[in-house]
Amino acid sequence: VGEGAADGFDAVVAGLDPAMVVVTVTVGEERDGCLVGFHTQASIHPRRYVVWLSVANRTYRLAQLADHLAVHALAASDHALAEHFGGTTGDEEDKLADVAWSPGPGGVPLLEDLPARFVGRVVEWLRPSEGDHQAVVLEPVEATGGELGPDGPFRLGHAGDITPGHPA
Ligand SMILES: Cc1cc2nc3c(=O)[nH]c(=O)nc-3n(C[C@H](O)[C@H](O)[C@H](O)COP(=O)(O)O)c2cc1C
Repeated sequence: VGEGAADGFDAVVAGLDPAMVVVTVTVGEERDGCLVGFHTQASIHPRRYVVWLSVANRTYRLAQLADHLAVHALAASDHALAEHFGGTTGDEEDKLADVAWSPGPGGVPLLEDLPARFVGRVVEWLRPSEGDHQAVVLEPVEATGGELGPDGPFRLGHAGDITPGHPA
Protein backbone atom coordinates (compact mmCIF):
# COMPACT_ATOMS: atom_id res chain seq x y z
CA VAL A 1 0.00 0.00 0.00
CA GLY A 2 1.46 3.39 -0.98
CA GLU A 3 1.33 6.09 1.69
CA GLY A 4 -1.48 7.80 -0.24
CA ALA A 5 -3.70 4.74 0.20
CA ALA A 6 -2.98 4.23 3.90
CA ASP A 7 -5.99 6.04 5.36
CA GLY A 8 -8.41 4.48 2.87
CA PHE A 9 -6.91 1.05 3.43
CA ASP A 10 -7.26 1.38 7.20
CA ALA A 11 -10.89 2.44 6.80
CA VAL A 12 -11.77 -0.46 4.49
CA VAL A 13 -10.13 -2.99 6.80
CA ALA A 14 -11.74 -1.53 9.93
CA GLY A 15 -15.08 -1.59 8.12
CA LEU A 16 -14.79 -5.36 7.79
CA ASP A 17 -14.97 -5.41 11.61
CA PRO A 18 -13.29 -8.81 12.04
CA ALA A 19 -14.04 -11.09 14.97
CA MET A 20 -11.30 -11.36 17.59
CA VAL A 21 -9.91 -14.57 19.12
CA VAL A 22 -7.61 -15.42 22.02
CA VAL A 23 -4.67 -17.67 21.09
CA THR A 24 -2.95 -19.56 23.91
CA VAL A 25 0.32 -21.46 24.06
CA THR A 26 2.51 -23.40 26.45
CA VAL A 27 6.14 -24.53 26.34
CA GLY A 28 7.30 -26.49 29.36
CA GLU A 29 6.22 -24.46 32.39
CA GLU A 30 5.85 -21.24 30.38
CA ARG A 31 2.37 -20.12 29.29
CA ASP A 32 0.85 -17.15 27.55
CA GLY A 33 -1.88 -16.02 25.20
CA CYS A 34 -2.90 -12.88 23.35
CA LEU A 35 -5.82 -11.25 21.56
CA VAL A 36 -5.61 -11.79 17.79
CA GLY A 37 -7.48 -10.10 14.97
CA PHE A 38 -5.39 -11.45 12.09
CA HIS A 39 -6.70 -15.01 11.63
CA THR A 40 -8.73 -17.07 9.18
CA GLN A 41 -9.56 -20.52 7.89
CA ALA A 42 -7.13 -21.09 5.03
CA SER A 43 -8.02 -24.49 3.48
CA ILE A 44 -11.09 -26.76 3.32
CA HIS A 45 -9.49 -30.08 2.29
CA PRO A 46 -7.60 -30.50 4.51
CA ARG A 47 -8.95 -28.06 7.10
CA ARG A 48 -6.31 -25.49 7.92
CA TYR A 49 -6.35 -22.26 9.94
CA VAL A 50 -3.82 -19.44 9.88
CA VAL A 51 -3.02 -17.12 12.79
CA TRP A 52 -0.74 -14.10 12.37
CA LEU A 53 1.35 -13.26 15.42
CA SER A 54 3.30 -10.06 16.00
CA VAL A 55 6.98 -10.82 16.38
CA ALA A 56 7.00 -8.37 19.32
CA ASN A 57 4.68 -10.57 21.39
CA ARG A 58 5.72 -13.07 24.01
CA THR A 59 2.99 -15.36 22.65
CA TYR A 60 4.88 -15.36 19.33
CA ARG A 61 8.16 -16.24 21.00
CA LEU A 62 6.63 -19.19 22.85
CA ALA A 63 4.69 -20.31 19.76
CA GLN A 64 8.00 -20.73 17.91
CA LEU A 65 8.72 -23.66 20.23
CA ALA A 66 5.19 -25.08 20.57
CA ASP A 67 3.49 -28.11 18.97
CA HIS A 68 -0.06 -26.86 19.54
CA LEU A 69 -1.94 -23.57 19.89
CA ALA A 70 -5.53 -23.09 21.09
CA VAL A 71 -7.81 -20.62 19.28
CA HIS A 72 -10.72 -19.35 21.43
CA ALA A 73 -13.72 -17.47 20.04
CA LEU A 74 -14.90 -14.47 22.08
CA ALA A 75 -18.53 -13.40 22.48
CA ALA A 76 -19.50 -9.74 22.35
CA SER A 77 -19.85 -9.83 26.15
CA ASP A 78 -16.24 -11.00 26.69
CA HIS A 79 -14.66 -7.53 26.78
CA ALA A 80 -12.90 -8.15 30.10
CA LEU A 81 -11.12 -11.26 28.78
CA ALA A 82 -10.26 -9.50 25.52
CA GLU A 83 -8.67 -6.66 27.50
CA HIS A 84 -6.84 -9.10 29.77
CA PHE A 85 -5.22 -10.93 26.86
CA GLY A 86 -4.85 -7.98 24.49
CA GLY A 87 -3.97 -5.17 26.87
CA THR A 88 -1.29 -6.84 28.99
CA THR A 89 1.85 -8.74 28.08
CA GLY A 90 3.26 -11.94 29.50
CA ASP A 91 6.58 -10.13 29.65
CA GLU A 92 5.16 -8.28 32.67
CA GLU A 93 2.54 -10.59 34.19
CA ASP A 94 1.39 -14.21 34.07
CA LYS A 95 -1.95 -13.88 32.26
CA LEU A 96 -2.88 -17.49 33.01
CA ALA A 97 -2.46 -17.04 36.78
CA ASP A 98 -5.86 -15.46 37.39
CA VAL A 99 -8.09 -17.12 34.79
CA ALA A 100 -9.54 -20.65 34.91
CA TRP A 101 -7.98 -23.05 32.41
CA SER A 102 -7.15 -26.71 31.94
CA PRO A 103 -4.41 -28.33 29.86
CA GLY A 104 -5.34 -29.58 26.39
CA PRO A 105 -3.20 -31.44 23.81
CA GLY A 106 0.47 -30.77 24.49
CA GLY A 107 -0.59 -28.92 27.65
CA VAL A 108 -1.96 -25.92 25.76
CA PRO A 109 -4.19 -23.81 28.07
CA LEU A 110 -7.93 -24.18 27.36
CA LEU A 111 -9.79 -21.21 28.85
CA GLU A 112 -12.88 -22.28 30.81
CA ASP A 113 -14.78 -19.07 30.11
CA LEU A 114 -14.29 -19.40 26.31
CA PRO A 115 -15.73 -22.82 25.43
CA ALA A 116 -16.05 -22.21 21.66
CA ARG A 117 -12.51 -23.11 20.65
CA PHE A 118 -10.25 -25.48 18.81
CA VAL A 119 -6.75 -26.78 19.29
CA GLY A 120 -4.48 -26.71 16.27
CA ARG A 121 -1.31 -28.65 15.64
CA VAL A 122 1.45 -26.47 14.25
CA VAL A 123 1.98 -27.50 10.60
CA GLU A 124 4.32 -24.74 9.39
CA TRP A 125 5.21 -21.05 9.65
CA LEU A 126 4.88 -18.41 6.94
CA ARG A 127 7.53 -15.74 7.31
CA PRO A 128 7.13 -12.85 4.85
CA SER A 129 10.31 -10.95 4.05
CA GLU A 130 8.57 -7.72 5.11
CA GLY A 131 6.07 -7.03 7.86
CA ASP A 132 5.71 -7.22 11.63
CA HIS A 133 3.65 -10.42 11.82
CA GLN A 134 4.37 -14.05 10.96
CA ALA A 135 1.76 -16.73 10.32
CA VAL A 136 1.39 -20.15 11.86
CA VAL A 137 -0.59 -22.75 9.89
CA LEU A 138 -2.70 -24.99 12.13
CA GLU A 139 -4.36 -28.38 11.65
CA PRO A 140 -7.42 -28.64 13.94
CA VAL A 141 -7.09 -31.67 16.21
CA GLU A 142 -9.77 -31.00 18.84
CA ALA A 143 -12.74 -28.64 18.95
CA THR A 144 -15.68 -27.81 21.24
CA GLY A 145 -18.59 -25.39 21.38
CA GLY A 146 -19.66 -22.97 18.72
CA GLU A 147 -22.54 -20.83 19.97
CA LEU A 148 -21.53 -17.28 20.90
CA GLY A 149 -24.94 -16.06 22.01
CA PRO A 150 -27.41 -13.59 20.51
CA ASP A 151 -24.94 -10.70 20.15
CA GLY A 152 -22.43 -12.73 18.13
CA PRO A 153 -18.64 -12.43 18.30
CA PHE A 154 -16.45 -9.85 19.98
CA ARG A 155 -15.28 -7.73 17.07
CA LEU A 156 -12.60 -5.15 16.30
CA GLY A 157 -15.20 -2.46 16.86
CA HIS A 158 -15.63 -3.66 20.46
CA ALA A 159 -11.88 -3.36 21.11
CA GLY A 160 -11.39 0.34 20.42
CA ASP A 161 -10.54 1.07 24.05
CA ILE A 162 -7.93 -1.70 24.36
CA THR A 163 -4.31 -0.60 23.99
CA PRO A 164 -2.14 -3.57 22.90
CA GLY A 165 0.20 -4.78 25.63
CA HIS A 166 2.98 -4.79 23.04
CA PRO A 167 3.20 -2.25 20.20
CA ALA A 168 3.23 -4.26 16.91
C1 LIG B 1 -7.80 -5.16 18.62
C2 LIG B 1 -6.49 -5.88 18.77
C3 LIG B 1 -6.09 -6.81 17.81
C4 LIG B 1 -4.87 -7.48 17.91
N1 LIG B 1 -4.48 -8.37 16.94
C5 LIG B 1 -3.31 -9.05 17.08
C6 LIG B 1 -2.93 -10.02 16.10
O1 LIG B 1 -3.61 -10.25 15.10
N2 LIG B 1 -1.76 -10.69 16.29
C7 LIG B 1 -0.97 -10.45 17.39
O2 LIG B 1 0.08 -11.10 17.52
N3 LIG B 1 -1.29 -9.52 18.33
C8 LIG B 1 -2.45 -8.83 18.19
N4 LIG B 1 -2.81 -7.90 19.13
C9 LIG B 1 -1.84 -7.52 20.17
C10 LIG B 1 -1.70 -8.45 21.37
O3 LIG B 1 -2.91 -9.03 21.75
C11 LIG B 1 -1.11 -7.65 22.56
O4 LIG B 1 0.04 -6.90 22.17
C12 LIG B 1 -0.78 -8.52 23.76
O5 LIG B 1 -0.64 -7.68 24.89
C13 LIG B 1 0.48 -9.36 23.57
O6 LIG B 1 0.70 -10.13 24.73
P1 LIG B 1 1.97 -11.10 24.89
O7 LIG B 1 3.21 -10.25 24.80
O8 LIG B 1 1.76 -11.71 26.25
O9 LIG B 1 1.91 -12.11 23.79
C14 LIG B 1 -4.03 -7.23 19.03
C15 LIG B 1 -4.45 -6.33 20.03
C16 LIG B 1 -5.65 -5.66 19.91
C17 LIG B 1 -6.07 -4.71 20.99
